[in-house]
Parts: sequence; C-alpha cells; structure tokens
Amino acid sequence: MRKNIVAGNWKMNKTLQEGLALAEELNGALKGVTPNCDVVIGTPFIHLASVAAAIDTNKIGVAAQNCADKESGAYTGEISASMVKSTGANYVILGHSERRAYYGETAETLKTKVELALKNELTPIFCIGEVLAEREAEKHFDVVKSQIVDSLFELSAEDFGKIVLAYEPVWAIGTGKTASAAQAQEMHAFIRQTLAAQYGQEVADNCSILYGGSCNAGNAKELFSNPDVDGGLIGGASLKVADFKAIIDAF
Ligand code: PGA
Repeated sequence: MRKNIVAGNWKMNKTLQEGLALAEELNGALKGVTPNCDVVIGTPFIHLASVAAAIDTNKIGVAAQNCADKESGAYTGEISASMVKSTGANYVILGHSERRAYYGETAETLKTKVELALKNELTPIFCIGEVLAEREAEKHFDVVKSQIVDSLFELSAEDFGKIVLAYEPVWAIGTGKTASAAQAQEMHAFIRQTLAAQYGQEVADNCSILYGGSCNAGNAKELFSNPDVDGGLIGGASLKVADFKAIIDAF
C-alpha cells in the first residue's frame, strides 16, 4: 500500500551553515519518535552531502530540488542525477512549477530527468499543477493530465511504481491561499483515476500523491484526512522545525 510522505522543499533558502543547523534540529526533534509518515527534506544541491552525513537518513530522506537532463560532460553549472545520488540523497524533486516557469523546463526535458533519476535509483517527486487562469477557465484537469501523460506515461508500470507525485496548484504556492480539502481531494482522485486507466488500479492505488501549496500546521490535518491525499510537499513551513514537525504530526 502507498506511503504517507511529508517532504520539505527548502527552495533557495539557507546558507550551508543555516541549512545544516535546520537539518540537525529536525533530526533532534525526531529522535525517539516514529512518525506515521516518511519524512524528506529537499535542500539546495550544495547542502546535500553535509545534511545527509549529519542526520539519520533511515528516518529522514534527503532530496535534491532538480537534476540535469544529461548524464555527464560539458554542461557547465549542471548537477547530474548520479552526482545527487553520490551525496547520499535518495529523492529528487522534478518539474516544480518554479522550474517550469522560470527555467523553461518542458515536458520533454522532464521526461529525460525522470529517466535519469530512476536510472540512478533516486525517487522522483514529480510536481504537477495548474495556474490560476487555467483553473478559472476550468482547464485544470486537462492541464494536470497532460503534465502526467507527456512526461511519465512512456514509463513501464514497474518504473512508474517508483514515482511520487505532488499536486501543487500554482495559485496556492507561497500565496497563503491553500486549495480547500475538497479541491485537493477532487484533483487527487482524478489523478489516481488517470493512473488507473494507464497502469491499472493496483499501480494507481500504490502511488503516493502529495499536496503542495501553502500547506501548514493549521491545515495539514484536514488536507491529509482526504482518502487520496498521501501527504504534502511543504515550502515555507519546512523552514522552521516546529512548523514542519507539526505537519508531520498531522498524520
Ligand atoms: P509553499 O510551497 O508551501 O511555500 O506554498 C510549496 C512548494 O512550492 O513546494
């Protein structure tokens, strides 16, 4: 059966020293505690190795926030999936709306990134979600379906089974305007149906689908109580241990 997951996305926040302190504080807060969900922190690339070495990675998974769409070579400034893996990280967030919007990531490049992540035994946390205008035009289901189909549906069922999805309505990210529990459940159920139609009910039922977008200690419980919401991808509220821990405790 699918896992519940609470994953932090630190984005471009925290110096190395600050990030290490945050990770160590979270590690301390989870000592002696068995959370009812998997816990992951998505740090900037330069933090990965230090963070992975400083925490109990059996309890807290470590994620990169991106990886290159090339294996290796003359791609100045890029970080490959195998480099991410070599730090001790075991997840990679791919297709975040900020990367799609500001760094021109396309369905095609994301498809390659997912393949390279899987090849290097990283679990992709693959982000999908519509912008406000698309929701207002009632195109949100079509948009989300295309994002899934265009980047993921050439995967075998076995490989698809290794992916975590994160539904993040772009209008809810960093805005304080969360999707309602009903809106989240409606979309998550639609996503699961879409997966079932392609890969069968068992693969769909085993896929963890996280919600992201202004998820916080105050609304996590209601969001996570939906049958098709299997956790959260948490931006702002992952930068303070008390807030992030309260979201973990929502399970
Ligand atoms: P937020 O970000 O929780 O700050 O809205 C979520 C995300 O972008 O992953």
